[in-house]
Amino acid sequence: MEPFRYHAYVCTQVKPDPEAPSCSNRGGQKVLEALRAELGKAGLAEKVQVTNCGSLGLCTRGPNMVVYPEGVWYSGVQVEDVPEIVSEHFAGGRVVARLANQDPAALKAELLENRHEALAKLKAAQEAQGK
Ligand code: FES
Repeated sequence: MEPFRYHAYVCTQVKPDPEAPSCSNRGGQKVLEALRAELGKAGLAEKVQVTNCGSLGLCTRGPNMVVYPEGVWYSGVQVEDVPEIVSEHFAGGRVVARLANQDPAALKAELLENRHEALAKLKAAQEAQGK
């Protein structure tokens, strides 16, 4: 039971290393703001809940956004893409295929590989600090 028809999570992760790939470096905050504004203009603000979130694990391909209940993962979303996402997905119920990750198995493999790399870096950093 969902209080909203859709729930969109937009990554706005800021990383300690400003050179590290992140959605914030690629305009995630502007995408978030554009999405909220466009949904308001379209009269869909009460149909779509928008939440900013931390890293979704696809940092080199941001800004990233996940839309539920379908679980559609959009990558490389730019402010210019937002009107199309609102009119197609949130108003029309049609996934914007050119921005969506269409292969769930490949997506999961990429996410797990990225997670593994991140944990390995964390472990190496802790070992370097003698922890
Ligand atoms: S910083 Fe957005 S997916 Fe990692």
